[in-house]
Amino acid sequence: MVTVDEMAAFCKRKGFVFPSAEIHENLAGFYDYGPLGIEMKRNIKNLWWRSVVQNKENVVGIDGAIISPESVWKASGHVESFVDIVGYCKKCKKKIKLDKHEIGIAKCPNCGILYENNGEFNPMFETTVGAVKEESKKVYLRPETAQMIFVNFKNILDTSRVKLPFGIAQIGKAFRNEISPRNFLFRMREFEQMELEFFVHPQKLNDCPNFDEVKNVKINVLTADQQENNDQETTQMTINDLFSNKLIRTKWHAYWIGLRYKWFLDIGINPDKLRLREHTKDELSHYSMETWDIEYNYPFGWKELEGIANRTDFDLKQHIKYSKKDLYYFDTETNEKIIPYVVAEPSVGVDRIFLTLLFDSYTEEEVNGEKRIVLKLHPLIAPYKVAVFPLVKKDGLDKKAKEVFDILKKEFNCFYDESGSIGRRYRRMDEIGTKSTVTIDYQTLEDDSVTLRDRDSMKQIRVDIKDLIITIRKFLNGKKLENLGKIIKKE
Ligand code: GLY
Repeated sequence: MVTVDEMAAFCKRKGFVFPSAEIHENLAGFYDYGPLGIEMKRNIKNLWWRSVVQNKENVVGIDGAIISPESVWKASGHVESFVDIVGYCKKCKKKIKLDKHEIGIAKCPNCGILYENNGEFNPMFETTVGAVKEESKKVYLRPETAQMIFVNFKNILDTSRVKLPFGIAQIGKAFRNEISPRNFLFRMREFEQMELEFFVHPQKLNDCPNFDEVKNVKINVLTADQQENNDQETTQMTINDLFSNKLIRTKWHAYWIGLRYKWFLDIGINPDKLRLREHTKDELSHYSMETWDIEYNYPFGWKELEGIANRTDFDLKQHIKYSKKDLYYFDTETNEKIIPYVVAEPSVGVDRIFLTLLFDSYTEEEVNGEKRIVLKLHPLIAPYKVAVFPLVKKDGLDKKAKEVFDILKKEFNCFYDESGSIGRRYRRMDEIGTKSTVTIDYQTLEDDSVTLRDRDSMKQIRVDIKDLIITIRKFLNGKKLENLGKIIKKE
């Protein structure tokens, strides 16, 4: 696996991600997405939205404001309890954020001495709203999107006809003034979250009719008990095992953990690099009674990719207390007013998924004595789905290639390239993960067929232009090239 610095350099070189405002002064923890990065990021967000919102009949979405008044963050507990522990290296004077379980064991990688615990720091960015100083109000940039969901709970109940159990989801920016932003896109100060709050009747935490969808998902598990006994060995279990053995305490929570774990497998992440780790008691967030992290084995170790917390009724209760508004749910079956439980809050950073997918898919191979870089991304994640090339830029091949490009671009995000040798053009597409390449050659002028090349195997088949869209669609959806036509060539 490449190092994180090599990955950052690769992303800059290819136009995926740039350090923000670099021509002035790059502030650590801020990045800008380039032309390829934005396409890939959008694909990730669309796939998540499709899986979590549009494919569910009981989940709706919102898009809340980024800035909110202090009282929101007092109610949520963030003003008081959202604190990071500052680790300090006496020798090199570096400060880092220490996770609770790292206190007293984490060592400075440069000096090899233990970090000192240098107290707590609240990473929320604060600013003011209002032009006149005396009348201005203290506000915070949101450190999580979740609170916009809780403050809109009543609005959703009043307008969406949702009935328990149901979810509210959101994708949007969040901000944390991290003590030591590091590892490229892994820990940023401005980042994008995708969060779902799933509300369930407090007496029906195990009434999960959808459980069969995920019960056989295989997961590498590390429990809190194991960690307390210094045992880091994961055990493979199914979601059903996790719930039946009371490791995950409620069925809806197990369901969402299974669904989210499966999503990562479905978008192509290597299962051996994923594990599910339970938070130990002392690392739980102030609002959580049970949290499981889906972790990935990065070049800098096993770290959280996504957290799935059981937030109980903590947030709604707090907002009722601070806003003095009625945020109860009226249960028409029992004629009772209840406060629903957020039994599962899948919360993940888009940027973190982006980085994970790059690490997971980046491959270097040798082909005909030369290095080939391939991003073996899931075709639906890659910035471009199809590249269209004329074999050479003359004899009418370029004109024909543009015609094919015009047909394909209505269906797929396509890239057109006619400059440089065909071999170099293939390599450029391999490097950015484009799964299929269509080449227009002299035979095309005779019989209206083109070649279709697979990024991974470098094999090619011939396809009639009239069948191209349907063939590419099947190919991008996982059908093997050899099952779509006769292999005519391999580089
Ligand atoms: N909403 C959970 C988090 O931001 O970590």
